[in-house]
Amino acid sequence: MFHLSSRRYTGAKTKLLNNIDLVILKHFDYTKHKGLSFFDVFAGTGVVSEFFTKKPEFRHFIINDFLYANYVIYQGFFSQKSFSYKKLQAYCKEYQSLNPKQIKENYYSKHFGDKFFSHNDSKLIGEIRENLDLLLGKKHINQKEFTLLLASLLYSADRVANTVGHYDAYRKNIILQDRFKFTLIEPLKSKAEIEIFREDSNALAKRLREEQRNIDIAFIDPPYNSRQYSRFYHLLENLSQNKKPKLYGVALKPEPENLSRYCKIEAKEAFRDLIENLSKIAKILVVTYNNTYGANARSNARLNDKEIKNILESIGKTSLYEFKFKAFSSGKTDFKNHKERIFICQTLIK
Ligand SMILES: C[S@@+](CC[C@H](N)C(=O)[O-])C[C@H]1O[C@@H](n2cnc3c(N)ncnc32)[C@H](O)[C@@H]1O
Repeated sequence: MFHLSSRRYTGAKTKLLNNIDLVILKHFDYTKHKGLSFFDVFAGTGVVSEFFTKKPEFRHFIINDFLYANYVIYQGFFSQKSFSYKKLQAYCKEYQSLNPKQIKENYYSKHFGDKFFSHNDSKLIGEIRENLDLLLGKKHINQKEFTLLLASLLYSADRVANTVGHYDAYRKNIILQDRFKFTLIEPLKSKAEIEIFREDSNALAKRLREEQRNIDIAFIDPPYNSRQYSRFYHLLENLSQNKKPKLYGVALKPEPENLSRYCKIEAKEAFRDLIENLSKIAKILVVTYNNTYGANARSNARLNDKEIKNILESIGKTSLYEFKFKAFSSGKTDFKNHKERIFICQTLIK
């Protein structure tokens, strides 16, 4: 079974969770409180939210990311709507017994076969994806069961993908083995209230401010450099939506969508606007940011420490912590002096 963290994802904070916790505890002893709320503003894999759902003091979560695949994955893992596990196991068995030789070519095998997956594996992926839409359309499965199965397909496909961790490129000149095995995810059980969004973080923060929400901790982990997540993970975006768009280039990407301002020169403005809105609804802002400066300009951080600190200090008392961290690298780039930074800011809200 797949856990939420059994996924390769650029910038995932899986290895930083205990440090994040320590920094928060240093400024806010949440163990003395009850019914706390946590807003994961750029949730990515969702591992940070998952970590805090295991703390009984936290009873309300807002989990957001603008990628389709991440949204499906949060619904699959976090949503507490009812589902029949027996039914899911039956579909899992059925999908595991599919024979690719008896499956017709499909969009996924035509485009991705012998590139991102073996030809047979991509046929299976396409066949299962179609079947999921069919099952939902015929109401054989409910929305929770659909997202649980679709998240399982995303994890199963990602596990065998011929990539270096993202879908910007696939390895060439190798013979791809048939390795795909449909495997279910293990959904999380929680008594907390969990709201899931697929929105632009700035737009969501503005709306939550208008709704006068009360948030205890907002965790802010934006992209650091010019590399767009929607381009890195285009194949999972494509598979989640199943709209079969026209594809371009060697990496077979669709037309761009969900391009983040945090990867562009306006990153500073976007960050300022976000912090301004969050400072009106959240007591504590925790910001993580990488200071990667590599040989490749595209990997350089969009905001520097001073800019982040100035923006945060304009709304409350801010401290900075640094931890040595192994940076994400596709192999060729050597990130020197890589440190993960955690800023923590106490706003004026009591
Ligand atoms: C550094 S990653 C977050 C990693 C996450 N904390 C984890 O541990 O997995 C940044 C995330 O922000 C998302 N993102 C980028 N710009 C966004 C925006 N404007 N609105 C919402 N999400 C955005 C990306 O899709 C990506 O998943």
